[in-house]
Amino acid sequence: MQDQLKQIRIEFDSQAPSVSTPEQWQRLRSDYIGKKGSLSLAMKELKSLTPDQKREAGKHLNDLKVYIESRLKEIEDGSVLQPKASTRSAFDPTLPGRRQAFGSQHPVTQVTEEIISIFYSLGFSVEEGPEIETEYYNFEALNIPKEHPARDMQDTFYVEEETVLRTHTSPVQIHVMENCRPPLRIIAPGKVYRCDSDISHTPMFHQIEGLMVDKGVSFSHLKGIMDQFLQKVFGANTKLRFRPSFFPFTCPSAEVDIQCVMCKGQGCRVCSQTGWLEILGAGMVDPAVFNAVNYDPEEWTGFAFGLGIERIAMLKFGIHDIRLFYENDLRFLKQF
Ligand code: DAH
Repeated sequence: MQDQLKQIRIEFDSQAPSVSTPEQWQRLRSDYIGKKGSLSLAMKELKSLTPDQKREAGKHLNDLKVYIESRLKEIEDGSVLQPKASTRSAFDPTLPGRRQAFGSQHPVTQVTEEIISIFYSLGFSVEEGPEIETEYYNFEALNIPKEHPARDMQDTFYVEEETVLRTHTSPVQIHVMENCRPPLRIIAPGKVYRCDSDISHTPMFHQIEGLMVDKGVSFSHLKGIMDQFLQKVFGANTKLRFRPSFFPFTCPSAEVDIQCVMCKGQGCRVCSQTGWLEILGAGMVDPAVFNAVNYDPEEWTGFAFGLGIERIAMLKFGIHDIRLFYENDLRFLKQF
């Protein structure tokens, strides 16, 4: 009897590993522990044994049965026989599709790209400069010497002595002119920093600087380019006004206003009842700046301008508080 049981176990062990479907598992089970399975047949043979032999053989038979049952259970628990939960639920064609959530471009980025593309069409290329600058690039080379009151116009963040977070994009003019010979036409968008914070000022904001240098560039070129540019941003028929102003790096200097986009010049809260909105600073490059970069002011002339991107975006989209740009509130950002 014991030999017979050994044989049964050897056979079971050789068949069990190849079971890979529920049907094969059922067959294995009934072949061994089913009513007409090998173990049941062996059980029947117990009758013919003496009581002692019966007890001995019965114990081996039972051990084998427990072993086979546990192996069958193992196989059943194994992944092969489980109808896989993942395959059943992987694709349910009756479910509605999931919508892809789309983001949108930040209004400051939108306006920056619009301005870049306008100047690109006018033959300007895009340049960048560092946000951490030496005082030389941020001030001195732009004709703002130490102790000059013009430094007070911009509340400066100092990183360390002589090193500042740039307060404007104008230092990019210097980098470009140091590295290139004229003629040149560039714009330089980027972040600038000032120690200032209220409804229309944030410590970081964005500017675009522009510079054109060539032989015979005059103030009328500046006017023509500003006219083209602002008509494209604020719509054809936008009226411009040039007001005399002062910047150390341009001479003569001007501030450029557009007729108020809200009230069309009638006077309203946005334009403080003046009918005009200040948009940018500009002027003819000061000879002192050309001297700093070794351009001969007798040979070359040029104009420069600088504008705040947030200001343009606020006027274009009717945004009243500059801080909204930086709160990352999706309800605000999704409108653009
Ligand atoms: N850098 C000036 C500012 O931040 C803006 C500016 C004015 C830039 C006149 C210019 C310019 O290039 O010609 O206030």
